[in-house]
Amino acid sequence: MRRWWLTIAIAIAVAGCAPVAALANDWGMGDSNSRIPPSSVFDSVSTPAHEINTLAFFVVSITTVIFLIVAGLLTYSIVRFRARPGDDGREPPQVYGSNPIEFAWTTVPVIIVLVLILITARTIYTVQAPARPPGALSVHVIAHQWWWEFRYPGLGIVTANELHVPLSDLQSPTPTFLDLESADVAHSFWVPRLAGKTDVIPNKKNSMWIDPHVAGTYLGQCGEYCGTEHAMMLLRVIVEPRADFDRWVAAEQQPPALDASVGHGRRVFESTACVNCHTIRGTAADGRFGPDLTHLMTRETIGAGVAMNTRDHLKVWVSDPRVMKPGALMPAMNLGDKDLDDLVAYLATLR
Ligand code: CUA
Repeated sequence: MRRWWLTIAIAIAVAGCAPVAALANDWGMGDSNSRIPPSSVFDSVSTPAHEINTLAFFVVSITTVIFLIVAGLLTYSIVRFRARPGDDGREPPQVYGSNPIEFAWTTVPVIIVLVLILITARTIYTVQAPARPPGALSVHVIAHQWWWEFRYPGLGIVTANELHVPLSDLQSPTPTFLDLESADVAHSFWVPRLAGKTDVIPNKKNSMWIDPHVAGTYLGQCGEYCGTEHAMMLLRVIVEPRADFDRWVAAEQQPPALDASVGHGRRVFESTACVNCHTIRGTAADGRFGPDLTHLMTRETIGAGVAMNTRDHLKVWVSDPRVMKPGALMPAMNLGDKDLDDLVAYLATLR
């Protein structure tokens, strides 16, 4: 009896905490993400995701029909042939060695399994095999604890956590091919509406491709436990019509404009440990351990989708990233107020 009351008390306490948790600071992410359609695997907008979706639906349909037939026959037999008062207690007739029955229940399952094998093989071939057409974009994805590095070989662009790709229309497809590697532990690249998961493994290059047919922003996340901040290793894929994509490329290829009014902040950046981990083109900073900051302010989020990229959030992040992302590998910078303000003012000019 007492345990019963304990259960109810715990349930009430948990329910009471829910609104408190909802009020906790999400650094603007809930508001931003709520404007992006949910990342459902059932709502595919790219060939690999669509193929996987179709296959899954087909397999589930066939297995559901098998389940209904077997469960139906079983239920019928249990009810129809149940023990009744007055039964003589003898076993029913035993049928051995009926060739037609043996033949039927061997052939039918073999045919079903064969169909599933062929259709699965066709899907695997479509998702994995295609040769890169001349118009295809190649992006090198490097997973880090806990963020994504995107390098566009040939375009000279390096960015983080927000992957821009061109829209691929069905008449003249411009797919994007991703080569994925890890800088540390095993991760998994997953954008549910665009493709299935692809493992990202140290010392091994995996590849995948997407051809999104609908412009928009797609949410993704790391799909394999990779340490403390695995759940906060988010990404966005921004699919743009070709002209917009080309404009983004041209802007990313430019070095950031030099703003004389933030010279002190820039000197703070160049004289602290920032330069060991981050790159800003046109400065002495060429670190590879953390995200490239050359065009930091063109990104919507910071910390791999942990906060919206605003000046206030940048200030919190630089002074101590662990306030936003416990376990983050970037150290707290411990700067004085003036240095911190000037540094953030400098970062805010990196467009
Ligand atoms: Cu990276 Cu989980």
